[in-house]
Order: sequence, then structure tokens, then C-alpha cells
Amino acid sequence: MQTQATYDYQVVRQFAIMTVVWGIVGMLVGVIIAAQLVWPDLNIHEYLHFGRLRPLHTNAVIFAFGGCALMATSFYVVQRTCHTSLFLPRLASFVFWGWQLVIVLAAITLPLGYTSGKEYAELEWPIDILIAVVWVSYAVVFFGTLVKRKTPHIYVANWFYGAFILTVAVLHIVNSAEVPFSMMKSYSAYAGVQDAMIQWWYGHNAVGFFLTAGFLGMMYYFVPKQAGRPVYSYRLSVVHFWALIFTYMWAGPHHLHYTALPDWAQSVGMVFSLVLLAPSWGGMINGIMTMSGAWDKLRTDPILKFLVTSLSFYGMSTFEGPMMSIKTVNALSHYTDWTIGHVHSGALGWVGMVSIGAIYYLLPRLYGKTEMYSTRLITLHFWIATIGIVLYISSMWIAGVMQGMMWRDMNVDGTLKWAFIEVVKETYPYWIVRFLGGLLYLGGMFIMFYNMVRTIAGQKAVNAPVLAPAAAH
Ligand code: HEM
Ligand code: HEM
Repeated sequence: MQTQATYDYQVVRQFAIMTVVWGIVGMLVGVIIAAQLVWPDLNIHEYLHFGRLRPLHTNAVIFAFGGCALMATSFYVVQRTCHTSLFLPRLASFVFWGWQLVIVLAAITLPLGYTSGKEYAELEWPIDILIAVVWVSYAVVFFGTLVKRKTPHIYVANWFYGAFILTVAVLHIVNSAEVPFSMMKSYSAYAGVQDAMIQWWYGHNAVGFFLTAGFLGMMYYFVPKQAGRPVYSYRLSVVHFWALIFTYMWAGPHHLHYTALPDWAQSVGMVFSLVLLAPSWGGMINGIMTMSGAWDKLRTDPILKFLVTSLSFYGMSTFEGPMMSIKTVNALSHYTDWTIGHVHSGALGWVGMVSIGAIYYLLPRLYGKTEMYSTRLITLHFWIATIGIVLYISSMWIAGVMQGMMWRDMNVDGTLKWAFIEVVKETYPYWIVRFLGGLLYLGGMFIMFYNMVRTIAGQKAVNAPVLAPAAAH
């Protein structure tokens, strides 16, 4: 008897569950560092002080929470849209365990103080090598699956996932070129301003490809699916793709305004950042317009609420980013909490919400159920998260502009009007509001965890049958 071929959902299930788990861990560390800024006495031990926990937070939320969400959804989407199971499923399993090992090693070494000192690339050289091996394996499974597809064309979501996988490999390998000094210490292969430029070419494209392109892949699959409508414009999605990936590459220098980087390079970064508004909004509009004819579903479907609201935050942060890249605006915003507000409108609003929506879509399907255990709890999660984001980002915007204005405020004799510590004191109320906003967002993740456990408890993992090959047209 011939058994029907099924999709490989095992690795998707593993990554989906770990998305929620690492989301809780990473955001808990976020809430702790937010509290440490308000109550410095919480810096109780050198391993647990702000300076060590901050990179732990960023690594955990970006690479553990975001990374697991991207890997879960990309492995699901590539199989479904290519009508084929994964290429080398055992290598896919290695990708899962290898990635978890990277995360655990990060969680151990960062509090111990091992760091390369490069933001978002803090991990030391042995872990960098492990990341490269796992990432290349991820690329082999993903692109191998594309090659063995039974469909005539490659659905646009896979273009975005593919660009994300390929670019992150190049960014990581180039930026991590370093000379080992001992087992846990290395020095960058680049020196001075070149080092800074490569770091922010990496840093900005980590935003552009890790925190954006991959999640746009998610948008192009899960928004149409959940809305039950085709993508608004397939042609726009292709223009969106090429315009976005070309433009992002040049925008990095906006992180280095008013530094030793040549002035012309800073201006190039600014101009490309301004241009970036167009493809970003083109993509957002394509996502939102996909809702045409299905807007009524928003009233009752909290998963759609997550997905559509994430697009609004994507639009907001990609309007704000180009504005902040203008040198005169950046002169005010840089070093202030405005940047932190911008980061989290993208991170909590866009990356967080689109991932949460996609995981809610996936979980029941991975366990042979039609829906999550409780739709009301998803609605509750949505509102708690949204209120949390609003508190977080509005407090940071006000605090940031206030800080920038106070720092440049002068007396008539040209001396500074405010001592730094006075600005810190003025910021306390806003940090308290941010802490409460973060606490709400984290609370929402606990609700999701409970809903997830109840959804999968007692259920058998189910792999859906592979769809028949699609005819060429
Ligand atoms: C058109 C799109 C965007 C542009 C042009 C842009 C531009 C900028 C600018 C000018 C800064 C401040 C740099 C500084 O003063 O140091 C910044 C910081 C940042 N942005 Fe964006 N942004 C965009 C979208 C996003 C999105 C969607 C996210 C997140 C999902 C994001 C995440 C970040 C992060 C993490 C930082 C902080 C980097 C650091 O200093 O550590 N950005 N962005
Ligand atoms: C409960 C949720 C969260 C809370 C309470 C929180 C809190 C914080 C705090 C207090 C900081 C340090 C700010 C400073 O140095 O002044 C920070 C930085 C950062 N967080 Fe979060 N965070 C949360 C969720 C997230 C998520 C989900 C992401 C990404 C997907 C994220 C990405 C970042 C990044 C990239 C930075 C560094 C920003 C920069 O250097 O400019 N956070 N977060």
C-alpha cells in the first residue's frame, strides 16, 4: 500500500513553540532592564546588571524570538507554496537544535561579559562560527526545497524569505571577520572608521533583512490566507521586492551621522533612507489593500487584527525612520529615547505582532485542529499588547524629544542649561510608563503561552498531505 506523502511539520512545530518561549524570556529581560533604569538598585550582581542584560535582551528578542518565528514560518510557507516537503529534513532538524544551542550559548556568555562589543553581533568568535554553519544549513534546506518544488513559479513570500536568508549569511560572515586572541576574545579584522562602517552596514541591514524582509515574507503569506483574499497586487509585490532590497543596502551610514565617517557617505545614507520610504509604503499598502472585501472580518477575527495592526506599525516606523535619518533631525534624536521609541514601534508593533498573528494561525494547523483553544484569549492578548505598545512608544517619543531639547538648551553666556543628571531625573516618569507598557506586552505573551498549551495538550501532531503538483500556466 502506498502511503500519501506529507509535509514535514515537525521542525515547524518545534520552532513555533520556541518562538513563544523565547518571546517570553527575551521580553522578560526587556522588562527587567526597563525596571533597572527606573530602580537602579535592581542591578544586583555584575552578571545581571544593565550593561550585560541589555545585549541579552536584544539578542533574545531579535535572534531567538524573531529568528524562531522566521524559521517556523519560512519552513512552513516554502513547503505549502511549493507543494513539496522539505529538502533534507534531518538537516532542518540540525538547524533547529543548532539554533537553540546558539541561543543558550548567548544566554550564558553575554551575562558573563564575553562580547565583541559590536551591537547585534556581540557573540564571540566560536559562537560566530556555529551561527555561520547553522545559517548555511538553513539556506541549503530552504533553497533545496525551492529547487524541488512542484509548482511552476516561486510565490513572492519565498522571494522575501530567500533574500533574508542569503543577505543575513553575507552580513554575518563579513561583519564577524575577526582575529581570535583567546578562546573567548577576538578583535575585529577591520580598524577605525572602516570597522564602524561595516558594523552599521551590518546593523542596518540586520534591520532591513532580519527584522523586515523575512517578516514581509510572513505578511505575503499569512495576510492573504487569514483574510481569504489574494494579494492585492502581485505586480506591486515584485516591484516592492526589488526596490526594497536594493535600497536598504545603502542606508547604513544614517547610524553614523556626525561621526568620523566622510560627510558624503553620511549624505548617501540619508538620501537612500528617504528613498526607502517609497518601497516600504508600497509593501505596506499592498498588505493592507489585500484586506479589500474582507474588512468586516476584522470585527471578529483577532488573528487578522494582529496582522493588520502590525502593518500599521510597519508603516509608522518606516515613515519615522526616514525622518530620523535627516541629519538635522538626527542631531536631535540620536542618543535619546526617541530612537528607543522608533525601535520598539518596529519591534513590538511590526515584528512582534506579525509573528504573533502567524504563530496563532499555525499552531492549530500543526496539531490537526481548526482553531486555537480560545479566540477570546487571542482578543484579550491583542488589546493588552496594543495598549502596551502605545504606552511604550508614546512615552519614549516624549522623553526623547525632551532629552534632545534639554541637552541643547543654553544659557545666554553659552553654557549648557542642564546637567546630564537633571535630564535623567526628568525622564523617570516616562521610564515608569515604558516599564508598565512592557509589562502589559509581556503579560500578553503569557496569555499566548497558556492558549498554546491548551491548544496542543492531548493533541497528536499532524502532518498535512502534500498538495498535488500545480499545473504550469
Ligand atoms: C524605511 C525604514 C527605516 C529607516 C530609514 C530607519 C532609519 C533609522 C534611523 C535614522 C535610526 C537612528 C539612527 C541613530 O540615530 O543612531 C534608526 C534606528 C533603528 N531602527 Fe530604524 N528605520 C527604518 C525602519 C525600521 C524598522 C521597521 C525597524 C524594526 C523592525 C527598525 C529598527 C531600528 C533599530 C533597532 C534602530 C536602533 C539601532 C541602534 O542604534 O542600535 N527601523 N532607524
Ligand atoms: C516587553 C517587551 C519589551 C521591553 C519592556 C523592552 C525594553 C527594552 C529596553 C529597556 C531597552 C534598553 C533601552 C535603553 O538602552 O535605553 C531595549 C532595547 C532594545 N530592544 Fe527592547 N523591549 C521589549 C521588546 C523588544 C522586542 C520584541 C524587540 C525586537 C523584536 C526589541 C528590540 C530591542 C532593541 C533592538 C533594542 C536596542 C535599541 C537601540 O540600541 O537603539 N525589544 N528594550
